[in-house]
Amino acid sequence: MSQKLNNFDMVIFGATGDLAMRKLLPCLYQAHAAGLLHPKGRILGVSRSQMDTAQFLAKVQSDSKIHVKKNFTDALWQSFIQRIEYVMVDVTQPTHFDDLGKIVKARTETDNVIIYLSTAPKFFAPACENLAKVGLNADNVRIVLEKPLGMDLQSSQQINADVAKYFKENQVYRIDHYLGKESLQNLLPLRFGNVFFEQVWNKDFIQSVQITIAEQLGVEERGEFYDITGALRDMVQNHIMQMLCFVAMEKPKSLKADDVRDEKLKVVAALKPMTSADVDKNVIRAQYTQTAEQKGYLQEHNVPADSQTETYVAIRAELDTPRWIGVPFYLRTGKRLASRTAEIVLNFKAQDNGLFGANANRLVISLQPDETIVAKLFVKQVGSGLDVQPAEMVLDMGKVSDERRAEAYELLLREVIDGRLNLFNRRDELEKAWEWVMPILDNWANSSVKPYGYIASSWGPKEAQDLLARDGNAWLEDQV
Ligand code: BG6
Repeated sequence: MSQKLNNFDMVIFGATGDLAMRKLLPCLYQAHAAGLLHPKGRILGVSRSQMDTAQFLAKVQSDSKIHVKKNFTDALWQSFIQRIEYVMVDVTQPTHFDDLGKIVKARTETDNVIIYLSTAPKFFAPACENLAKVGLNADNVRIVLEKPLGMDLQSSQQINADVAKYFKENQVYRIDHYLGKESLQNLLPLRFGNVFFEQVWNKDFIQSVQITIAEQLGVEERGEFYDITGALRDMVQNHIMQMLCFVAMEKPKSLKADDVRDEKLKVVAALKPMTSADVDKNVIRAQYTQTAEQKGYLQEHNVPADSQTETYVAIRAELDTPRWIGVPFYLRTGKRLASRTAEIVLNFKAQDNGLFGANANRLVISLQPDETIVAKLFVKQVGSGLDVQPAEMVLDMGKVSDERRAEAYELLLREVIDGRLNLFNRRDELEKAWEWVMPILDNWANSSVKPYGYIASSWGPKEAQDLLARDGNAWLEDQV
């Protein structure tokens, strides 16, 4: 593959933090190892820790290298770390930005500057203001914002407004790493680039849709963060919403960033708003409970013993569009579930033309752990007669191409370097998503009903099964 590589200066704020060490630097290493970074591209680590480049590199050596799981060679690692420099900046100190400004501007080889704010959102406003003071908000600068972008609609609007004072919307790259997943992106060509699906991708043929992100891990060492966040903010408002957008959107006018983003916005805006009574009826929140082998959520480190934070949420949603009216969309996510999976299930209406009985097709699109598309079809049973039996037609995306499949963050980092906004969220869409989840957050904040419990490593609470049973439906693992 030969492609033009864009030179860049990537300034990572929060460079000593977990995300930088665990994901950003290892993913940049992978891009480097694959020859996909411009030879002169530079990474400037920034944090408020007082250290020099040698000390920072020692930290990268001890805390980040271990997260490079593939394609590691000493020679490549050595050439990779030569791209890295460190500058100490306290984002609340305007004078610290003078040095940073000078270092970035002293580079004459590129004017492709990327500022990655991998810090707590409370630092976004001072960082943007101080960057602007030294001219690091000029048109050649892109700013990358890491989630969580707010805790509710109001705080998210505030963050966006703070950033918008200094950066134009087309300079802002809001990360949702689910958009970096190949199989999520593949939904567009799958739907709009094939003759098979689009004609039946609607309420006339689809009975219900399920979107699941299930994790096997619990909250691990993130109790403090997780307890003020919860599954709705951590996963539904962003990752599940992105999956929903790609499944439900109309055909965009073109593949240009804003045409795609316009269609995603329309999906989120079409979600039927919920009253508090709707939330009681259509939203299930739950926490994992202890077993002989595993801790329950309330026993986790840094979690208060009386916490009401949900580690699981299931929602019955509806979209008010001609394509989808009346079709239930069941959304769910949870920690400490039976398996790790992210998938979209389209349950088709049973068709009975009098010959083979009422048979319902199903399409399951898995994003992880394996990337597959599985169609449940009905085929002739072997032997005499024409009785049918279900069978699966499986497309294993891993076998479609020998090309290396980049991790989501690597792909997104390369997209920022190349200045493509398609896989980043626009402000209006994110704020609409917050608008939709707000009644759920408000209902919970005022509720005296505790979250349900579910046994660690199960498929969630019974109440989430009841949510579907009410419509005569069942989650995929309960389907035959
Ligand atoms: C993150 C959440 O955004 O996504 C984590 O903060 C979660 O809690 C993670 O574990 C899941 O991502 P993935 O790609 O492993 O499904």
